Amino acid sequence: MGSKAIECFIDDPSKAAALTSMDETTLLRESLRARASSDAPDYWSFRGTERARDDGNVLFQYPAMMVSPMQGALIDVLREHKPGPIAVLDPFVGSGTTLIEAMRRGLTAAGTDLNPLAVMLARVESAEATSHDLPSALAQVRSRYDELRGELEAPTDKWTTRWFRSDVAAELAALSAAIRSEEAPELRRLWWSSLAEVVRLSSNARLSTPKIQNRPSGEIARPIDVRERFGRLAKRAVSILEARSEALARSGHLSSGCYWPGLTVELADARSLPSSLAGFADVVLTSPPYGDNHTTMPYGQASFLPLLWIDVRDTAENIPGELLESSRSLDTLSLGGSRLTATSDAIDPIVARSPSLARLMRRLEKHSHEAWQRVGAFFVDYATACDSMLASSKPDAHLMLTLGDRTVRGEHVPTASVTEELFASRGVRLLETLHRAIPRNKRIASRNESSKTIGSETVLILKREGN
Ligand SMILES: C[S@@+](CC[C@H](N)C(=O)[O-])C[C@H]1O[C@@H](n2cnc3c(N)ncnc32)[C@H](O)[C@@H]1O
Repeated sequence: MGSKAIECFIDDPSKAAALTSMDETTLLRESLRARASSDAPDYWSFRGTERARDDGNVLFQYPAMMVSPMQGALIDVLREHKPGPIAVLDPFVGSGTTLIEAMRRGLTAAGTDLNPLAVMLARVESAEATSHDLPSALAQVRSRYDELRGELEAPTDKWTTRWFRSDVAAELAALSAAIRSEEAPELRRLWWSSLAEVVRLSSNARLSTPKIQNRPSGEIARPIDVRERFGRLAKRAVSILEARSEALARSGHLSSGCYWPGLTVELADARSLPSSLAGFADVVLTSPPYGDNHTTMPYGQASFLPLLWIDVRDTAENIPGELLESSRSLDTLSLGGSRLTATSDAIDPIVARSPSLARLMRRLEKHSHEAWQRVGAFFVDYATACDSMLASSKPDAHLMLTLGDRTVRGEHVPTASVTEELFASRGVRLLETLHRAIPRNKRIASRNESSKTIGSETVLILKREGN
């Protein structure tokens, strides 16, 4: 059935009653297909909105951000067919794209991530600071910064001296001190998010890769005006958040500056989601990592330099000490980051649940033990995270997962098929598979030739069957 057929059918009251007896899942599937009709066969690629959120801007260029309108469209299709309120969970929340779309629709939402910078950004994006007069709060932090400029020395630790010019470091020290003196934690988080973007743009590391790699020396000597950059980015952040809070107020979802349907963002490992989220989600809407962070997308490295200047106590609660020890620690603690989990005892039961993974592991074993371990470690962790998502969802929940395949040592890693099989072995049914062209920013992984992402993504729409 094409999109027009469905719309006409539903719009006709005499036929609407007949629909109620139709399988809800069939309708959901038809609606997903209808969006990619012959008029718009590439609908799910959302070309032209590849990088930006559809409110035009982002506070910080977090790597591999999801396409915001696409997540919104997935929620909309689900709401057309699922009666009652919908609670949304994103266990790999990153910079909070899913939460923004859930809030736009007045839904209860929760996000978790292992990366403290991601947790902080998602909290800022959830409009937590909107009860404040943001323009005057910005004027205050800027005037404190002006007072401190020239008063503080550039830090001389090894990370700062390696990754920042001393004049830039002295400016960042003054800006960081000015933000620390702000009393309200939600305002500090807002200014930290602008400082994070200033750091990203002003360090000695290349912008072309999320991995920390030196810029050529000619580029390091470029003109950098930290004060101007912070002023401009913080002003833009204020206008993004003011527009968001006005929209929330218009839709009746703000009460005393608070998003009343409820929204939480926590630091948590997706392999063991907090017990407070047990049975929470009507839909798990997320884009998990494609492979281990070291070789696929080094989220931890991309966050390391901003976190040198931010008071990490402001980002999230209970941050394990080892998480930020070095530029690689966060990635080591992420899914598949440690090969220690790659034992046959751990891998064999996962392989037994997924014929696609079994085939891949047999091929990799012939090539290289290291690649076998690396991929094995990732899927051991990934399978644990999938089970944890089920524990955090309701018995009839949907899961909408945006996934990318990649190659390791030239072997195709079929993440989408493995995911489908792992869930099938837990009694979760595949309703539909959508294909989309991958946004360019997700393709920039580390420059590691042994691992490459592929230029398209798959969205799996799955449903728990009361299990
Ligand atoms: C594809 S990104 C999500 C991007 C996000 N959808 C956005 O729009 O910004 C994957 C996220 O998974 C997180 N991650 C990796 N391993 C994790 C783990 N074990 N537990 C929780 N989050 C993890 C990374 O920090 C990263 O933020």
